[in-house]
Amino acid sequence: MSIKEQLNTNIPKHLAIIMDGNGRWAKSKGLLRALGHESGTKTVNRVVDACRDLGIEYLTLYAFSTENWNRPKLEVDTLMRLLVKSLKRELSNFIKGGIRLNVIGNIDALPKKAKEELLSVMEKTKDLDTVVLTLALSYGAREELVNTVQELAEKAKNNLISPHLITEDVIKEHLYTKNIPDVDLLIRTSGEQRISNFLLWQIAYAELYFTPVLWPDFKEEDLYEALLNYQQRERRFGKTSEQLS
Ligand code: FPP
Repeated sequence: MSIKEQLNTNIPKHLAIIMDGNGRWAKSKGLLRALGHESGTKTVNRVVDACRDLGIEYLTLYAFSTENWNRPKLEVDTLMRLLVKSLKRELSNFIKGGIRLNVIGNIDALPKKAKEELLSVMEKTKDLDTVVLTLALSYGAREELVNTVQELAEKAKNNLISPHLITEDVIKEHLYTKNIPDVDLLIRTSGEQRISNFLLWQIAYAELYFTPVLWPDFKEEDLYEALLNYQQRERRFGKTSEQLS
């Protein structure tokens, strides 16, 4: 039986990925970092298609962090250009595959062209529901939490909510990810074992999977391997094994 056939059951509903290693991939080949990002974009397309084929309903990709603004301007410009180019190219694939585009992060901080293209693709795919593909762009989890606290404090100040009624569910409803379930599996490529300010609230019970494979080299088989590994884990959510069985 092929790996793919073994993956029929217990597919995570929400997969999140920290795509890391584009720069090292390029360096190892004596190429410019930009070519690493370009190759990483091809991996994005492959992984989106693979997730759709596997029945993963929510895929969230860390494409650009709030900290990434500190990179050299040329590299930031390259990433934004790649984003626009790949959105234009992938729109027909999104429509064919039932992929709805969603964005989390401070979209207003993005260049006008990138923001416009994102909004346009989001509008054109808003009724699709096979996969919700969320790009985290100019995203930082602490910033998301600060926003949430500010919104709730404002509501409390205006007597729209009473502080003792601020529950976990209420907080969830104020996050950028309000319509998305918690993350089941988080993958990070390139051997780094960090969370880097990604979805801190939403990964509270996620399984974490770290692979040394650099993002441009990450293939369907690497995804299957991560999913097989996930399926072998016992998610207890604080209970005992006996309680679960
Ligand atoms: C990490 O590699 C990757 C990024 C900072 C950006 C991820 C972007 C892409 C995969 C391409 C564009 C995305 C879309 C959605 C079109 P790194 O540069 O940190 O690698 P390094 O740690 O080896 O230097």
